[in-house]
Amino acid sequence: MSEESVPGFGARSGWSREQAARIERTPETVAPIIYPPETDPAPHVHIWDTWLLREPDGSFATIDGWRVILSLTAPSGMLPGKRHDAAEIRAFASHDGRDWHDVGPVFDGGALGSRQWAGSALYDGDELVVFYTAAGDADEHDLSYGQQIVAATGGRVEAGPERVTIEGPWSHEVILEPDGERYETSAQSRGMIYTFRDPWFFEDEGERYLLFEANTPVPDGSDACGGDPIQQEFNGSIGLARSPTGDPTDWLLEDPIVDAVCTNQELERPHVIVREGSYYLFISSHRHTFAPGLDGFDALYGFVGDSLRGPYRPLNGSGLVATNPENAPYQAYSWLVYPHDEELLATSFFNYYDLGPLGIDDVGRLPEDEQKRRFGGTLAPTLRIGVDGDRTEVLGALDHGHLPLPGEALPELVLGERSKEGYGAF
Ligand code: FRU
Repeated sequence: MSEESVPGFGARSGWSREQAARIERTPETVAPIIYPPETDPAPHVHIWDTWLLREPDGSFATIDGWRVILSLTAPSGMLPGKRHDAAEIRAFASHDGRDWHDVGPVFDGGALGSRQWAGSALYDGDELVVFYTAAGDADEHDLSYGQQIVAATGGRVEAGPERVTIEGPWSHEVILEPDGERYETSAQSRGMIYTFRDPWFFEDEGERYLLFEANTPVPDGSDACGGDPIQQEFNGSIGLARSPTGDPTDWLLEDPIVDAVCTNQELERPHVIVREGSYYLFISSHRHTFAPGLDGFDALYGFVGDSLRGPYRPLNGSGLVATNPENAPYQAYSWLVYPHDEELLATSFFNYYDLGPLGIDDVGRLPEDEQKRRFGGTLAPTLRIGVDGDRTEVLGALDHGHLPLPGEALPELVLGERSKEGYGAF
């Protein structure tokens, strides 16, 4: 990743086409195949994007022994492809990081937007703060796709012996909107996808930041991507905002930290982990959001740098960290990485499986019961990832939805289990 690769776009780092052209499945980057879980912990809802309730220092919070996760959910009777139109944030709690009980919808009705998309959650003192994306407008009749970043403050977590409850009163406030210069507005968008979403809280050297997924404005007639208007539509970025006061409702936009103009349109759910002085920055992206001429996968991608603002280099040369096996290319998506002792753990959701030769665009043409049958809609097995400088390696997987705390022993790795083609071969 070179600073020269993105002249004029404000970010210190670009994800260049040359780097992304190196993306390929290798034994180090292919995840094991996923089978449906024996029991679905929440059969009444589809579950997808999930994040941990964390302390300000980034660690997984525990409240009277409970750990809490928040997920985007929709009723399981809905067609999986329609779930984004009815997304609601729900919490789940567990004593052991394995069995999760449904705490219910996090908000009591006052959430902004016509539906709520991904975010992050902070246990600040004993206040629960949820950062989320308000998609569309609260009372709209026809769905719209504008996105605003919101902070909901005032939440309380009540942790009883048997279960956890979450209560308000909540106060919801729009905290970030695109400025049209560093971050594209929906009116400026020329691409198939528009993004200004997925706020992720991060504290670094006493300062508070939000990372988010965005697009870089590329005006008509720009000479970006050799002047190719089609490639210019692929203008994803990783945005940054800083709180000048530390107040979770007070934020100022800064320049993006990674720009992927000409490479990829959606750098989803950015988040960062600091390890031995290096900043590991992760995103999820889809096969179909790479610009023409690039062959990416639905996968977890990552970058490493010496400071939050970069410059960043793509991990493993291309940015690819973990993808689905070739014979199940859509089995998981929307990874969230957190540190566990020497390793990294990545949770995600069980997406479409058993598609045979079908592509993702064919799913909507299947009979409705088949669309539902082939959608996991629950937490995927947690990936174990080894990391060494700029290199990473998928080491194996834990059970569906198993989210250990630091220090909790993980099963011993079975060496030599992986074949040359990666786990996907079996
Ligand atoms: C990733 C994602 C997020 C978004 C959510 C909407 O799976 O596209 O970026 O917040 O899904 O459902």
